[in-house]
Amino acid sequence: MNIIVVGTGYVGLVAGACLAKIGHQVTCVDIDKKKIARLKQGQIPIYEPGLSDVVKEEVAAGKLLFSTSLKDVLAKAKAIFIAVGTPMRRDGKADLQQVETVAKEIGKNIKDYKVIVNKSTVPVGTGQEVTEIIAQDYQGDFDVVSNPEFLREGCAVKDFLEPDRIVIGANSNRARDLMLEIYEPLDFKKITVSVESAEMIKYASNAFLATKISFINEIANICDIVGADVEDVARGMGLDNRIGPKFLKAGIGYGGSCFPKDVNALNQIAGTSGYDFKLLKAVIEVNIKQRLLVIDKLEELLDKIKDEPICILGLAFKANTDDVRESAAVDIIRTLTGLGASISTYDPEAAEQAKNIMNGGVKFFDDPYEAIKGAKALVIATEWPEFEKLDYKKIFGLLEDPKVLIDGRNLLDPDEMRKLGFKYVGVGRGKL
Ligand SMILES: NC(=O)c1ccc[n+]([C@@H]2O[C@H](COP(=O)([O-])OP(=O)(O)OC[C@H]3O[C@@H](n4cnc5c(N)ncnc54)[C@H](O)[C@@H]3O)[C@@H](O)[C@H]2O)c1
Repeated sequence: MNIIVVGTGYVGLVAGACLAKIGHQVTCVDIDKKKIARLKQGQIPIYEPGLSDVVKEEVAAGKLLFSTSLKDVLAKAKAIFIAVGTPMRRDGKADLQQVETVAKEIGKNIKDYKVIVNKSTVPVGTGQEVTEIIAQDYQGDFDVVSNPEFLREGCAVKDFLEPDRIVIGANSNRARDLMLEIYEPLDFKKITVSVESAEMIKYASNAFLATKISFINEIANICDIVGADVEDVARGMGLDNRIGPKFLKAGIGYGGSCFPKDVNALNQIAGTSGYDFKLLKAVIEVNIKQRLLVIDKLEELLDKIKDEPICILGLAFKANTDDVRESAAVDIIRTLTGLGASISTYDPEAAEQAKNIMNGGVKFFDDPYEAIKGAKALVIATEWPEFEKLDYKKIFGLLEDPKVLIDGRNLLDPDEMRKLGFKYVGVGRGKL
């Protein structure tokens, strides 16, 4: 089928490349001219394992094209996926401007029946809003469906091609059938619901996962007080089938381009609907507090923050991505520089992205040991597997007294680190 994907970010590019891989003729459209120029030259603008190969293969096969003009490519397509950003507004609501702009452009240029697929994460009611925007300029037949995306950055290609479920929210049989045809090559569980339910499934899923993280972080904080080890507690809990082991990893809180904004957006949706979503408010509060715990621990162990050299390992919001949006690491660095600390940092993939959003005062290194040399405290802020494999004996020698090691992702063995001589602090690893 001839398909357009509007927006070539983490979701749009993966969706476009994978839809081509499963047999469709795809054109990826973006207003970012530089991005499209780079893509046309075979350069992938983001770090996402495996994506480059799929893009190159599909481009070579002539099944994946790129364009900066939706208008120019619209006519041939049967389905138009909207995969543009829906960032968080200051008031916590989802900013729908990018979606609305695309809807307007579709309305102005559409000439026959098409299915417009909302893949961006949007509040309940957005499908209806997109319908109304298109109908302002086009009085013919069309459908708007919701097809939320659940891929995780870092394993996005696999998640798209082998999803736990494909959610199709359609209010007409014609649109539902076309969506089922698109996804027919993917032999995974498909659930067809109304547009509104599909929109809510996405928010409810992310809110639930964020709740699990905030829950285990609260358990970790109690573990620190009573002397239990949250890693053992999470293992014991996770073996219960009703609970499961995933998203029970204590740390410095969730981040990224999805959880914080989606949890806030759902909280706002509840609020504007007159509903007080108490649990979700607590999830948000716990997450903010969890990031600040690192600052408290540093203040306690270094006596003061001002002028102290502190190294932060990790900038990405999680491992295997270069995405620094709402990253706990970046937030912690900002707070520490605000308090006058001297920050050095290293990340295997995310340094360039971080440089774009930080206001100086931070030294970036290409080598972790160089970043650590001379610091009084080391904070592990992202769970990159390579941080587990560093030579901690060497690191002990590179750090200045009091040689604090804050393991914000519980990557290391506390006993081993204490034996090496570090002032080691994990998250919920027993009495401090
Ligand atoms: N990143 C994730 O892991 C993830 C997972 C699931 C769902 N989502 C959701 O998917 C959506 C997209 O997220 P993302 O991370 O890919 O965003 P992104 O910011 O990485 O990419 C958005 C892209 O859209 C382009 N764009 C903006 N306006 C446009 C327009 N008018 N025409 C053409 N292109 C335009 C931008 O230039 C950018 O390249 C969001 O709603 C997000 O919540 C993201």
